[in-house]
Amino acid sequence: MHRLLITGGAGFIGSNFTRYMLEKYPGYQVVVFDKLTYAGNLDNLKDVQDRFGDRYAFVQGDIADPAAVDAVMQAHEIDTIVNFAAETHVDRSLMEPDAFIKTDVYGTYVLLEAANGYGVERYHQVSTDEVYGQIPPGHSSLETDPLHARSPYSASKAGGDLLCLAYHTSFGTPVTLTRGSNNIGPYQYPEKVVPLFVTNAIDDQPLPLYGDGRQMRDYQYVLDHCEGIDVVLHQGQVGEVYNLGTGVETENMVMARAILDLLDKPHSLIRHVTDRPGHDRRYSLNVDKIRDLGWESRHSFDEAIAQTVHWYVDNQWWWRKIKSGTYKEYYKKWYGERLAEGGS
Ligand code: NAD
Ligand code: DAU
Repeated sequence: MHRLLITGGAGFIGSNFTRYMLEKYPGYQVVVFDKLTYAGNLDNLKDVQDRFGDRYAFVQGDIADPAAVDAVMQAHEIDTIVNFAAETHVDRSLMEPDAFIKTDVYGTYVLLEAANGYGVERYHQVSTDEVYGQIPPGHSSLETDPLHARSPYSASKAGGDLLCLAYHTSFGTPVTLTRGSNNIGPYQYPEKVVPLFVTNAIDDQPLPLYGDGRQMRDYQYVLDHCEGIDVVLHQGQVGEVYNLGTGVETENMVMARAILDLLDKPHSLIRHVTDRPGHDRRYSLNVDKIRDLGWESRHSFDEAIAQTVHWYVDNQWWWRKIKSGTYKEYYKKWYGERLAEGGS
């Protein structure tokens, strides 16, 4: 396991993982393969080329394009695939599901075929706790629980997961999967709630909190997630799924207030707006299985949110560029009416 293809490596988690792996394993070569959709951003990897030179390469391409995948596998003699590439935002999946099916389902199939064709040592699928659907109070999802995906995003991720497991059963493909909870940290596209709220708060703009704001998420620091994937890559059992989160849930209202407190901004910036259709009320993971491999989340919610807020305060060059572009059209389309309704 020395020549890694990191698909979606120009996105939020993929770029953090690329940097993490190059730092931790001096003997590894990493090729980032990324389509550079609206969410892909070479600024996320700005330092990587200079720091790691020949050990790192970037190739622009689509995981749903078999010829492009074949070419990168062959040219770089890839022995391990870690698939982060996906359409990832639930709200966008409600507006335009097409790309979700193409990338998250068909793209996964193309990568699995390449994994078989080139006889890789490992194919790792980066999945999500959303595939279990919303979880009633008192229960935490086990890896063996049935999947109850409820949005086009989570349904397409569930499709990808099932393909991975089916390829393992049918063809012996050496797959592992992690199902992670909500990541926060540097380089997260400001459509996701934490960077959206932090950057809006810095500019004294309203924080559009869906519904009553009592929905619960397990917010984990992105480097903890990267470490968990690393542990599963090196110690996980082939054919197995591992939940990956802190095991601690936080209400969105509490998260929003924490951001405002860290920035010394008034809670009156919180604006309750019309809810996301089909909004999953709660996710909750049982993480005993990955803990048995020796992994432990290192950051509490308070530490993770504080480090995240500070990063966005210190790196305004990064997010101001994004928020001044086509992002504005998206924001108007999704939030225009919601904010105009003048919720409390
Ligand atoms: P992101 O949206 O920030 O980045 C996705 C990356 O994939 C982008 O660089 C984009 O250009 C690339 N991409 C999209 N379609 C592609 C295609 N067809 N071919 C090649 N590249 C393509 O996403 P993220 O938040 O970093 O999530 C990464 C992975 O982790 C996803 O698979 C997601 O489902 C999963 N995940 C995310 C979270 C989270 O909280 N963000 C939690 C659990 C799991
Ligand atoms: O749980 C893992 C998943 O976390 C990943 O698989 C997804 O790729 C990632 O986008 C994320 O999904 P969520 O839908 O949970 O994340 P998001 O940041 O969009 O929303 C987090 C919570 O905040 C959710 O309860 C909805 C709420 N929210 C979100 C936005 C964008 C708001 O209240 N207002 C908002 O404007």
